[in-house]
Amino acid sequence: MAEEKIIIFDTTLRDGEQAPGASLSITEKLEIAQQLAILGVDVIEAGFSVSSPAQFEATARVAEQVIGPTIAGLARANEKDIEAAGKAIAKAKKRRIHTFIATSPIHMKYKLKKNSDEVLKMAVEAVKYAKTFTNDVEFSPEDACRSDMSFLIEILTAVIEAGATTLNIPDTVGYILPYEYGRIIAQLKSNVPGIDKCIISTHCHNDLGMAVANSLTGVRNGARQVECTINGLGERAGNAALEEIVMAIQTRADFFGKDKAKPLTTNINTKQIYKTSQLVSRLTGFVVQPNKAIVGANAFAHEAGVHVDGILKERTTYEIITPESIGLGSSRMVLGRHTGRHGFVDRCKQLGFKLTEQEIEHTYQRFLEIADKKKEVFEEDVATIINDEIRVVVEKIYELEYLRVLIETEKAPTATVKIKSKEGIKEASAEGDGPVDAAYEAIREATGQSPKLESYSIKAVTGGKEALGEATVRIKQNGRTYIGRGVSTDIIEASAKAYVDAINRMVSINDKGTEPELKVEL
Ligand code: KIV
Ligand code: ZN
Repeated sequence: MAEEKIIIFDTTLRDGEQAPGASLSITEKLEIAQQLAILGVDVIEAGFSVSSPAQFEATARVAEQVIGPTIAGLARANEKDIEAAGKAIAKAKKRRIHTFIATSPIHMKYKLKKNSDEVLKMAVEAVKYAKTFTNDVEFSPEDACRSDMSFLIEILTAVIEAGATTLNIPDTVGYILPYEYGRIIAQLKSNVPGIDKCIISTHCHNDLGMAVANSLTGVRNGARQVECTINGLGERAGNAALEEIVMAIQTRADFFGKDKAKPLTTNINTKQIYKTSQLVSRLTGFVVQPNKAIVGANAFAHEAGVHVDGILKERTTYEIITPESIGLGSSRMVLGRHTGRHGFVDRCKQLGFKLTEQEIEHTYQRFLEIADKKKEVFEEDVATIINDEIRVVVEKIYELEYLRVLIETEKAPTATVKIKSKEGIKEASAEGDGPVDAAYEAIREATGQSPKLESYSIKAVTGGKEALGEATVRIKQNGRTYIGRGVSTDIIEASAKAYVDAINRMVSINDKGTEPELKVEL
């Protein structure tokens, strides 16, 4: 039986990066884009090129270097934006311009200050101009779900005539409910002349927690492209989570393929899902909540006795998808020193990591250090170690050579650090409100850097008192956020490493004079 593909349009690097606090460097974007290609997404929306030179450069580098997916550039419906998007994606083998303009009464009146005739004209001109850069043009009526149906039909008919090949129906503010979204897609499908020649796409925000449900209802009603992001990143409450969309389509093939000659599938290699989720979490600094569907730490954990008993008798009693299907081995699989180099490399491969000899050397040494401290090393630990070791490296301007923290009851904690830099080793001691605060104060003194600490979080990678701790810090200087990470079996050491990592990122970017991101209002 032939299958029908759902096009997976990943917008982690564009809508995802619009999440407050999620700013990625050009190299980090490239690293994510390469992984998205391995994951098998069909389209990567690489950026909003007109918004800053860094956005332009990131999109252009993705277009030039990432092979496989179509590379899309976002543009408002004006010549300047479209030209920037067109130039940025020019080197991609398969390229798309995604142009949009708001169509809801509220957006047209207050934001655009234009009437519907003017908006329609701009949309048509934008699509025609985009066609001069590529044949593959997507049009989005922004805030479609709060727009008048008759105007939606009119504008979509006009952009199809102008050459649009994909029609995206965004629920920009996450307002709509699944039943209503399905009805909008069905109405457009039956009432817009020429729509059968185009792909209908979903783009749903999660303000009411409906993004995935809405997208899937869209699919059920005829949409054949889903716009989504890894871990559901995106503006405000985020976008539809790619991993949830893909696993729902795969797990419920019976539902999506029902009364159809062709079952629905995607091109996603689901075994790369966990790895991609971890990478995006690490680079954006957005920790995945433990109870997150598919990729959360508890997604395959069974606690209640009756559940564990059921699982041991027959897995399918309480598990509708397997950890292996998203690239995790049986998540309780334990490694240790006895695993050996060969076993370690084998496990890395199973987790979807293709490491160079040098990366294997670094990560294996680190694994041995951790295995010495921690009796049981889980696959999640291995993924964390690898991601920490092979994360896009910035110059290690400062290195944490030594850390001692003293905690005494009824006294303020004190920390002493030794920081190595090209000027030599500098020692500093400081007091703080808590041990991490004391360590950070000492690091500030030893490095001479004093960025504002925006946020700090620590998570245990797996359970148990010897769990690997992964700290994430966000610091801010001159309006730009830098994210640092540190991993250790000691949480204070992980926190100190994360802080030094963030400072290194800040100093190396400032040294290179990289321009701060200009966030342009959409
Ligand atoms: O949410 C939205 O409407 C968007 C558009 C730019 C497609 O992100
Ligand atoms: Zn959006």
